[in-house]
Amino acid sequence: MTQGPLTTEAGAPVADNQNSQTAGVGGPVLVQDQSLLEKLAHFNRERIPERIVHARGAGAYGTFTLTRDVSQWTRAKFLSEVGKQTETFLRFSTVAGSLGSADAVRDPRGFALKFYTEEGNYDLVGNNTPVFFIKDAIKFPDFIHTQKRDPYTGSQEADNVWDFWGLSPESTHQVTWLFGDRGIPATLRHMNGYGSHTYQWNNEAGEVFWVKYHFKTDQGIKNLTQAEANKLAGEDPDSHQRDLREAIERGDFPSWTVQVQIMPASEAATYRFNPFDLTKVWPHEDYPPIEIGRLELNRNPENIFAETEQSIFSPAHFVPGIGPSPDKMLQGRLFAYGDAHRYRVGINADHLPVNRPHATEARTNSRDGHLYDGRHKGAKNYEPNSFGGPVQTDHPLWESTSVTGETGTHEAPRHAEDNDFVQAGNLYRLLSEDEKVRLIDNLAGFIAKVSRDDIAERAISNFRQADGDFGKRLEAAVQALRGQ
Ligand code: NDP
Ligand code: HEM
Repeated sequence: MTQGPLTTEAGAPVADNQNSQTAGVGGPVLVQDQSLLEKLAHFNRERIPERIVHARGAGAYGTFTLTRDVSQWTRAKFLSEVGKQTETFLRFSTVAGSLGSADAVRDPRGFALKFYTEEGNYDLVGNNTPVFFIKDAIKFPDFIHTQKRDPYTGSQEADNVWDFWGLSPESTHQVTWLFGDRGIPATLRHMNGYGSHTYQWNNEAGEVFWVKYHFKTDQGIKNLTQAEANKLAGEDPDSHQRDLREAIERGDFPSWTVQVQIMPASEAATYRFNPFDLTKVWPHEDYPPIEIGRLELNRNPENIFAETEQSIFSPAHFVPGIGPSPDKMLQGRLFAYGDAHRYRVGINADHLPVNRPHATEARTNSRDGHLYDGRHKGAKNYEPNSFGGPVQTDHPLWESTSVTGETGTHEAPRHAEDNDFVQAGNLYRLLSEDEKVRLIDNLAGFIAKVSRDDIAERAISNFRQADGDFGKRLEAAVQALRGQ
């Protein structure tokens, strides 16, 4: 069925889309051929900068349903009534690979979730792991440089990766997780998501609670071995993206059970681990996960570039009742994402259909800029004004927290049981013997590639400090592979 004539961008009919206009048969091409010039020029501009991390991803819309009353902890309206449903958009991603890279690789997976709430969009920009490699934003660019291609060789280098991790012992927990079975999920549907950071919830009475989010897959955890992933990445680089789209197309909607761990604010200072240290979990026995809802993905984007590539998520997008914690990584992220969006998509990125609020409207005094959508029509663009313009609420989204001390470059405080290894050891010890064997194989295979013994030894030493057996077996495996 024809959709009518092909047109130029200005809507005029195109007479010939096969032959450029020339000066006579066989002559040079004419500048008056607008159709040709416009087509070539548009093509040159079809790419925007890819995300500096998490470039490779797949997204889907869904529904969050609240299954438990949580108003004792937060006044967020979308969390106010059992049975309440909120539209969402979730973008999964790998971290290190560029836009065209394969899905089946060992890497954390991004789990970036936008809730289109009636009080504005709330973004929870998490991963499929509960922890992270570092605990201060100032180390993030260095860390990512070691994951990306080396400026001289143009490849990811084992030397760079292990040099950084060996010299950053706080990475030991996340690295143990990454090289375990869950480091390569079988599909995006068969893995958990985590908010990872600690966030603030506050209730109507102004009481503060610290919260961690968990999204437990209802499909069950399924992973790929390194060998399976190597094969799949070669044969079907788009495996995860396709699997998600096809599952939704056939009505097999993936879902996650949503849980939170809640810590009353008064317990934070004396908790055995620093609750704002992103390299640590809160053991379940200390703060048992509480089920509060269900997230289902049920609609594919119609256009991947418009919706998934141009989607923006920011940890700074909060709604009343939810706010940041003093986690130093989170604090850095509060700046980084908005800045990336302004560079990558533009100053009006949040006007795009996927990014704008769906259950309310944005009412600001900002105007103009590239691709401004004219949403404010003739409304005044200053405040205060006498023409019924939007007014401030005098009610901050989150509660203030008190601080003392002197400004300076302080390390995050260590609580009674904090060190960089204890929880990596706990993770190692909960693995079955088969899982331990695969973990050690995966780590040894990569560490064995480094060019210098001191880099290998420093890396192994971190795992030795997590657990003596772990270190001993890893050292033997690396030595065997390096022929020592
Ligand atoms: P628990 O026994 O109460 O919980 C263990 C957790 O480990 C569960 O969430 C489980 O997830 C998860 N897990 C099981 N196997 C693996 C694996 N191969 N790779 C990664 N995670 C796995 O113990 P704790 O709460 O004391 O935690 C012990 C260790 O478990 C931590 O040091 C941390 O590394 C890891 N962990 C802890 C989480 C937490 O929030 N406390 C969350 C995820 C991991 P599932 O229930 O889906 O099987
Ligand atoms: C994407 C910075 C840590 C999860 C990004 C982007 C930047 C960035 C600049 C690209 C954003 C864009 O172009 O739209 C940082 C910095 C960090 C950090 C500076 C540390 C200080 C983390 C952590 C997590 C995380 C700890 C998870 C817990 C993600 C996800 C995306 C992303 C999921 C992809 C979002 C999407 O799908 O659009 N990060 N990041 N990042 N980051 Fe981080």
